[in-house]
Amino acid sequence: MGIFTKDIDSMDDLFVHTLRDMYYAENQIVKTLPDMIEKATDKNLRQGFQQHLAETRNQVKRLEQVFKLHNVEAAGVDCPAIDGILEEADDVAGEVEHKSVLDAALIAAAQAVEHYEISRYGTLVAWAKQLGKNDCANLLQQNLEEEKATDAKLTQLAESFVNRKAA
Ligand SMILES: [Fe+2]
Ligand SMILES: [Fe+2]
Repeated sequence: MGIFTKDIDSMDDLFVHTLRDMYYAENQIVKTLPDMIEKATDKNLRQGFQQHLAETRNQVKRLEQVFKLHNVEAAGVDCPAIDGILEEADDVAGEVEHKSVLDAALIAAAQAVEHYEISRYGTLVAWAKQLGKNDCANLLQQNLEEEKATDAKLTQLAESFVNRKAA
């Protein structure tokens, strides 16, 4: 991206850049979730990840619709933030031996991902509205709601059994 080349001039450019950042992030999450499903030992956690993998694939499609509505090419740009979150998750999971502690680590990592997504989609919804693109805002809002619901489900799971078992 163009910190030095200054290729982001307008709110519209900034919106498209952030959209591409999320497109890259969602695609990385699609690649990473199967790994997390495999590592999770708790049945409910595994099911939760599986459900969110299906949702995430659909979120990628919604982003493609947003690109189309906005008349720009669907393309990703590197997002070092999500790469860092996913990398750290992988590192930590590799260090944990005890099963239920591993599940707690996976939940914490997944919630860091959700919080990043919630932050980005919140911004994108606001900017889409500001640009008068309510059709784009509606699609982005649907992704935002799914991330929020996933985050809440992860909190519930963590509270209901994973952390208790790990204690
Ligand atoms: Fe997502
Ligand atoms: Fe998500």
